[in-house]
Amino acid sequence: GHHVSSQHVRIRRRELQCRFDIEKFTPAFLSIYESLVPVDEEIVKQKQLLLSLRKLVNKEWPNAQLHLYGSCANSFGVSKSDVDICLAIDDTNMSKSEILLKLADLLQADKLENVQALTHARVPIVKMMDPVTGIACDICINNLLAVVNTKLLRDYAQIDERLRQLAFIVKHWAKSRGVNETYKGTLSSYAYVLMCIHFLQQRTPAILPCLQELEATCVVTIDGTTCAYFDQVDRLRNFGVQNNESVARLLWGFFQYWAYYHDYANDVISVRTGRLISKQMKDWTRRIGNDRHLICIEDPFETSHDLGRVVDKYSIRILREEFERAADILQYDPNPSVTLFEPY
Ligand code: CTP
Ligand code: MG
Repeated sequence: GHHVSSQHVRIRRRELQCRFDIEKFTPAFLSIYESLVPVDEEIVKQKQLLLSLRKLVNKEWPNAQLHLYGSCANSFGVSKSDVDICLAIDDTNMSKSEILLKLADLLQADKLENVQALTHARVPIVKMMDPVTGIACDICINNLLAVVNTKLLRDYAQIDERLRQLAFIVKHWAKSRGVNETYKGTLSSYAYVLMCIHFLQQRTPAILPCLQELEATCVVTIDGTTCAYFDQVDRLRNFGVQNNESVARLLWGFFQYWAYYHDYANDVISVRTGRLISKQMKDWTRRIGNDRHLICIEDPFETSHDLGRVVDKYSIRILREEFERAADILQYDPNPSVTLFEPY
């Protein structure tokens, strides 16, 4: 307890100043980013797979629609990611499980491989692999909020390329260090991207605006939740030009923030408002059921969802130690673009 926290205070004081030579690592981080971005050929294959699945599904359900969501559509997908697809279907005669089982049959008959219906998962899906393209794919049913939050992330990525650079490197760090596994109590990729967006909204001058606070040009209501925001992002292309921080500097700031400055006891990060909001205001101050709210990341549309709800009293320590390790590497290591990603 006390020993650890007094150590924190010492580190904090030492690190108020940015490393003076941090910018010199930007080329190395940018080349890591470039190596993670999928090549066009991969995107073409994903589109092909989507088209052939649409044909198959529409033979059985003419009015159903298939939407890409997650990293293959939000522009934060690294090379060789799985493809996430949402089947939007309005069949009142069949339950979700029955639809999934029927879908699994159709896929199996169409020679897709490793077809598996996971009807009891938290998000029920059918998993499969397409032997033609080698792409692995998960299909869920009627998860349209995920389709809309995918578009929100993609729209933010269009505003300033530094968001994609930062988020790719943060995701790569999280996977290398084993802190991108919700079943082990660490954070989802979706949560990390929201943390990056929020961080760039908070820079001075700001690098990203808050799209949900601007005049709404895109409004949809899904299961009673209204999703509204400004989506004409080509009009915001110059938003961040007053700020010339490069990716190495931003990474340094991102990890400093999560290691030494974020107020875990009181604050919630909120992309929806572009600000920090208080746990008190959301009534996230105590444990309710399994939601412990040890690190609070508000979902931009489902505002009662804390994406940090998976984090428990053990994994919060691991997570915070990893933030501190990353911050210290960016502060002192002679070769941060290598050390940061060393396997744990
Ligand atoms: N999602 C969500 N709520 C969550 C987790 C995920 O709505 N608590 C949705 C988001 O639309 C997200 C998608 O599910 O984009 C996939 O989530 P995730 O696997 O965390 O992110 P990916 O972007 O697919 O990342 P990865 O590259 O690691 O697969
Ligand atoms: Mg995914």
